[in-house]
Amino acid sequence: MPNYLAMKTTILTLDETQSNLLEPAAHILQQGGLVAFPTETVYGLGAIYNNESALLKIFAVKGRPADNPLIVHIWSLEQLKGLVSEVSPKAERLINAFWPGPLTLIFPKQPDVSPIVTAGLDTVAVRMPSHPVARELLKQTGIAVAAPSANLSGRPSPTRGPHVIEDLDGKIDMIIDAGMCSAGVESTVLSLAGTEPTILRPGSVTLEMLEQVLQERVYFAGPGNVDRPQAPGMKYRHYAPKAPAILVEGENLRVVAEINRLLAEQSPHIKAVVLSTTENISYYHNEWVLDLGSRNEPSVIAGRIYDLLRFCDKLAVDQIYIEGIPAQGIGAAIINRLRKAAGGNIINVS
Ligand code: TXA
Ligand code: MG
Repeated sequence: MPNYLAMKTTILTLDETQSNLLEPAAHILQQGGLVAFPTETVYGLGAIYNNESALLKIFAVKGRPADNPLIVHIWSLEQLKGLVSEVSPKAERLINAFWPGPLTLIFPKQPDVSPIVTAGLDTVAVRMPSHPVARELLKQTGIAVAAPSANLSGRPSPTRGPHVIEDLDGKIDMIIDAGMCSAGVESTVLSLAGTEPTILRPGSVTLEMLEQVLQERVYFAGPGNVDRPQAPGMKYRHYAPKAPAILVEGENLRVVAEINRLLAEQSPHIKAVVLSTTENISYYHNEWVLDLGSRNEPSVIAGRIYDLLRFCDKLAVDQIYIEGIPAQGIGAAIINRLRKAAGGNIINVS
């Protein structure tokens, strides 16, 4: 058994038109190796779904708790049949509307899907990514690929090749670097198991988009509500930068005033950074202010948050102050990740 603590990782750099170069990556996966690959959301750390020793390596390499199940990535609807025991009419409508794309659906699983994938649940999470490199890799591999985000557990998810290299170089067989992920936050995870469609993790397929297709109300899973189980992964501290972060939510000008107040109060020896929306940057009295993107373009903010959190680590700051944005549409996914990055340090000034 190779030593996964120190191994040679092949870095394959390509653009979206070079999927002809993916054959060695597909071969590694077929042989039970680990390959990090781009998707339209974030980079994934893949292993074929039906090789238990490969699956266990994913958990070992990431330091991922065994009770956090994996999403299985497919290229064709044919592959879905081998994984799930039933596709409901509602699921079919969502598949037609959003696949390939950033929506993960929870299905009752086929008996032979390994409990390592599902963390012992009787359901399996499946998605069909739209990124051309992911699609071609899945097609050439010919076997569905289980893949969590390609970060060490607890760190911000990777949205660029260098983020993956930072976390996983020397620990896996191959990293495919194909540039920046377009969505920048992980897929929306939706459960159709209960009486009401329930979002277990918000993402760039928004509640409003799901309601439009289903023509019924869709709900967010409440924390700790036993009737609407959360995605098990959501209970862990996630997406965390190294420095402590405070998220300030509420009315825009009050948010700015509150962050300026916190900056004025802190010790002069503290290196603080503010993550500010573009419109507010000039209002802050601080050396380091990073641009989240415009309040009018929340999808740009979604694409930047993980990169900015990792950049805060690079700057070796002592304290991070983050502006909240309205939790509508894609804003729900952004706020969900920022609250976790802040580890519950949230000030509301509305
Ligand atoms: O965009 C994405 O979904 C990315 C890319 C790589 O596809 N993947 C990703 O995987 O974010 P991961 O492992 O970081 O997050 C998977 C989430 C976790 O919160 C996990 O608990 C939940 O999906 N999940 C997986 N299987 C589940 C199941 N059977 N029931 C409920 N939640 C499940
Ligand atoms: Mg993750």
